[in-house]
Amino acid sequence: MAFIDYESFKKSIASLTDGEDDVIALMATVASELHHSDDRFDWTGFYRVTSPQMLKIGPYQGGHGCLQISFNRGVCGAAARLEKTQLVVDVATFPGHIACSSLTRSEIVLPVWDRSGSLLAVLDIDSNQLNAFTQTDVDALAPIFASVFSS
Ligand code: SME
Repeated sequence: MAFIDYESFKKSIASLTDGEDDVIALMATVASELHHSDDRFDWTGFYRVTSPQMLKIGPYQGGHGCLQISFNRGVCGAAARLEKTQLVVDVATFPGHIACSSLTRSEIVLPVWDRSGSLLAVLDIDSNQLNAFTQTDVDALAPIFASVFSS
């Protein structure tokens, strides 16, 4: 059972993204490194803010994801609308959860801001395990995304 080492992940991402400012390249690198770092992560990817109240899929790892999500739908829409991390222990209890895979049992979605402080995207991680994510994941991931996308 591989479990992410956030200190090691932070150093790896800093090294891999050093000097890069292309957002899609940064997202592709983060999604790939994150996805392969932990057996809990069965889908890992970004939904980008492409117009007011609309998210469209960005770089991801895992099975195909739905292409667009409005801010008033799903866990991703809630994270974007509220600009607040959504930590869902059981997706069956989340009203309006969008099941891109019927295997998803729990989910975490974090807002990602750009350098100007505007919402850039949300990062979605789905797990086929129930109650897979904890506040430890949130507390570790948020500053890493800030250093990559907001600084
Ligand atoms: N579960 C998300 C949709 C994205 S797919 O799972 C990759 C949601 O409810 O917003």
